[in-house]
Amino acid sequence: MRIAVAGTGYVGLSLAVLLAQHNDVVAVDVVPQKVELLNARKSPIVDAEIESYLAADASGERPLSLSATTDGAAAYGSAELVVIATPTNYDPQRNFFDTTYVEQVIDLVLEVNPQAVMVIKSTVPVGYTKGLCERYPQGRFLFSPEFLREGRALYDNLHPSRIIVGVPSESAFEVELQAAARKFAELLQQGALDEDVPSLIMRATEAEAVKLFSNTYLALRVAYFNELDTYAGVRGLDASQIIEGVCLDPRIGSHYNNPSFGYGGYCLPKDTKQLLANYDHVPQNLIEAIVDANRTRKDYIADEVLARVMSLVYEGVPNPVVGVYRLTMKSGSDNFRASSVQGIMKRVKGKGVPVLVYEPTLDDADFFGSEVTHDLADFKRRADVIVANRWSEELNDVTAKVYTRDLFKRD
Ligand SMILES: NC(=O)c1ccc[n+]([C@@H]2O[C@H](COP(=O)([O-])OP(=O)(O)OC[C@H]3O[C@@H](n4cnc5c(N)ncnc54)[C@H](O)[C@@H]3O)[C@@H](O)[C@H]2O)c1
Repeated sequence: MRIAVAGTGYVGLSLAVLLAQHNDVVAVDVVPQKVELLNARKSPIVDAEIESYLAADASGERPLSLSATTDGAAAYGSAELVVIATPTNYDPQRNFFDTTYVEQVIDLVLEVNPQAVMVIKSTVPVGYTKGLCERYPQGRFLFSPEFLREGRALYDNLHPSRIIVGVPSESAFEVELQAAARKFAELLQQGALDEDVPSLIMRATEAEAVKLFSNTYLALRVAYFNELDTYAGVRGLDASQIIEGVCLDPRIGSHYNNPSFGYGGYCLPKDTKQLLANYDHVPQNLIEAIVDANRTRKDYIADEVLARVMSLVYEGVPNPVVGVYRLTMKSGSDNFRASSVQGIMKRVKGKGVPVLVYEPTLDDADFFGSEVTHDLADFKRRADVIVANRWSEELNDVTAKVYTRDLFKRD
């Protein structure tokens, strides 16, 4: 099948590579550098599986039928299926996702190839696809939630926890789209390494809700263990002992329980806020509490860091510097969109304390008014308190300076 994929970020690129094993895929992006890299078989993002699949294609060991272009009209014009994986950033003014980039692709597809089936992989508000059917009655839309993790984007599509495709019951093409949804689920299964992946076809609105409720559950779990850790910190208890004891209950489980500065990354903060916005006129306490808990956690962590700064001042250190060790959310990632440590930085800087950043993946010498160094030894020398959301062996020689809540030294 000829498939176009709009957007070559984490979602679009991993799907383009996955589908290009058995289909002719054209990946479209508005950023020419990304397109050039991809055509040279270099990954624009850090992802071990994507890099290895592109290299195996370049050497002829495992061929892909994949090309990249900035020419959306040409790519969509000749595709049977268009997968849309463009950003949906949260708009704090409107309290809703900004779906402009998704609609830019839809407008172009409807102009050049109105028969094409469009599968929305971007995360959207609950009810969005239904609204599209009303706005664009001539369009054929499916919504398929994406569950990958950044840094493991292709891995998670090679080993998916589930495949879900939503069909809008409001569409005039519902029967045709039911068949297209089954076909798309088959294509994802065909590209995966695991067999018999659980696969669900449901209405698009329910599928949209699955995505937001899944991420909000993950945020809830992070917030829960973070609040447990805050409690232990304030009461002088050993949080790791409590967590180990709690998690040995198999109903709770010992996974995804490592405290941090807060949940972050591109998806959890925006998806929880979008779900909360979707609860308009629906009774709830929990969803709002999850969003609030993340703010409270960052306030607590920032206060702890500032307390360390103050004790250094009392010891006679004239103007202590807070060093931020990595802006990324997870170790092994090159992405620091909405990482929680930035919330700590903002609060610490707000109190007039100088902040020095060590982030080797950032080329700039400045990050929101704070100096960035790429020299780890210089960073360790100049920082009086080192704040690390995730521990690294690199910090072994400065443990006395480090403030982290990475109790289990893992993500
Ligand atoms: N990153 C994740 O872990 C993840 C997981 C599940 C779902 N999602 C959702 O998937 C969507 C994409 O996320 P991402 O992390 O891949 O984003 P990203 O920012 O990494 O990539 C998006 C790409 O789309 C490109 N783009 C923007 N407008 C375009 C247009 N009109 N035509 C073609 N390309 C265009 C951008 O240049 C960029 O390369 C979002 O809705 C996100 O919420 C992300």
